[in-house]
Amino acid sequence: MTSTMTSAAKRIVVLISGSGSNLQAIIDAVNAQRINGNIQMVISNKDDAYGLERARQADIPGCVIRHTDYSDRDSFDQALIAEIDSHSPDLVILAGFMRIFTPEFVNRYSDRMLNIHPSLLPKFKGLNTHQRALDDAEAQHGCTVHFVTEELDGGPLAIQAAIDILPEDNASTLQQRVHRQEHNIYPLAVEWFCNDRLQLISGQVQLDGISLDSQGYQYTE
Ligand code: GRF
Repeated sequence: MTSTMTSAAKRIVVLISGSGSNLQAIIDAVNAQRINGNIQMVISNKDDAYGLERARQADIPGCVIRHTDYSDRDSFDQALIAEIDSHSPDLVILAGFMRIFTPEFVNRYSDRMLNIHPSLLPKFKGLNTHQRALDDAEAQHGCTVHFVTEELDGGPLAIQAAIDILPEDNASTLQQRVHRQEHNIYPLAVEWFCNDRLQLISGQVQLDGISLDSQGYQYTE
């Protein structure tokens, strides 16, 4: 089975904290009818996230749930869960959402929550990935879409895109080239998920029913 565009459009909720360029890439793919799904809601934990403006321009509802309004992680996550579940999502997309979740939150959406991380996981989990790749004199760097588990940036890998690190690169130039690849692989992962091609089955990522190796699908332009 390679395509199920006739199946019902998936319901998608996107969580952001910032610029939302990955959100934009996904909005563009939905509008181009590449993705068999609809974004029901964009949730930001920050009032000034530019991604909220992108949602507004695309006529997608947006809301803010400020982590600073809650006394602890658990009550913030409960508020997020209430909003997310009110949209009955098939897929929850983390697109630059800069908060760490409780295990309850992660487990609630296991098998249907994706994240994008700016490194070739499992290398460089966490922050400052571009500078760390340079400091370690890596030959390549890149980005990864993965399913989300309790381990931060540690869930099963779905798609990776690698770029060569050039002698003249700095953290900023690397970030820009990695970002371009993010905008290729995130919409692709969402497209495949919404066509029931990309699935997490018993902890294994499958594409078209076949388990991918631990590095996920290797995307090339
Ligand atoms: C991206 O670099 C992504 O890999 C990371 O957060 C950043 C979000 O960028 N998780 P944007 O808001 O989508 O432009």
